[in-house]
Amino acid sequence: MRVVVSIGGSVLAPGLDPERVEGFADALHELSDEGCELGAVVGGGSVARQYIQAARELSANEFQLDELGIGVTRLNARLLIAAMGYGVQRTPATTYEEAGEAVRRGDTTVMGGVTPGQTTDAVAAALAEYVDAELLVFATSADGVYTADPETDDGAEQLSQLTPAELVDIIAPMDRGAGASAPVDLLAAKLIERSGLRTIVLDGTNPEAVVDAVLHGEHTGTDIVPTGDANEPTYWTQR
Ligand code: UTP
Repeated sequence: MRVVVSIGGSVLAPGLDPERVEGFADALHELSDEGCELGAVVGGGSVARQYIQAARELSANEFQLDELGIGVTRLNARLLIAAMGYGVQRTPATTYEEAGEAVRRGDTTVMGGVTPGQTTDAVAAALAEYVDAELLVFATSADGVYTADPETDDGAEQLSQLTPAELVDIIAPMDRGAGASAPVDLLAAKLIERSGLRTIVLDGTNPEAVVDAVLHGEHTGTDIVPTGDANEPTYWTQR
């Protein structure tokens, strides 16, 4: 099956830990060996935030800040490409067309950011749309989607399953709140809704969690299941 995996920057390289990057490289190889066609999208993490903060103090405008963030996401993409070594497009794809071509060739493609005004969550959802992925997985630092921001709301509860429309309703107020951290950004949620993308949001601290989720549908995060999509992805039912 065709899968897009979004790996948050703080999950891929907390403190630039090579072991974690290697863990994700191994996880992607394992999925590829099992017959998955893969797109990976990586975030910028704390390094991107440090650059953005420094540039903000230097009065850079929002577009410049986003360009810095994109640069760091592409550095992280290069790190993952280096760790993978083979079976992967050698440079981070900068367009969806380029990424799609690599996937059709049978190579894993790794992307960072694409354009200012969004985050890599939206890149992952757009890539999943572009390549007609059967499954989109967000490996994040949160263990799924909550009813509210768990950082600020003690009553926030983790949801095991919801529809894309419910995801948009939950994310919209979080996305607007200053400093609030939504598990995926609003544009990504809207792309998931319009394309009816089967999606999983899970804790990516352990890269093997992505393998279990993709190969067996087993995880402790949140399933986003399009309305009327009663069937499990064909890959799970074939096994
Ligand atoms: P991230 O996707 O890592 O942003 O991209 P984030 O969600 O804020 O970071 P985490 O997941 O909490 O760690 C880093 C930055 O790069 C820019 C944005 O400024 C974003 O905050 N960016 C990224 C873009 O402008 N466009 C893109 O397509 C991707």
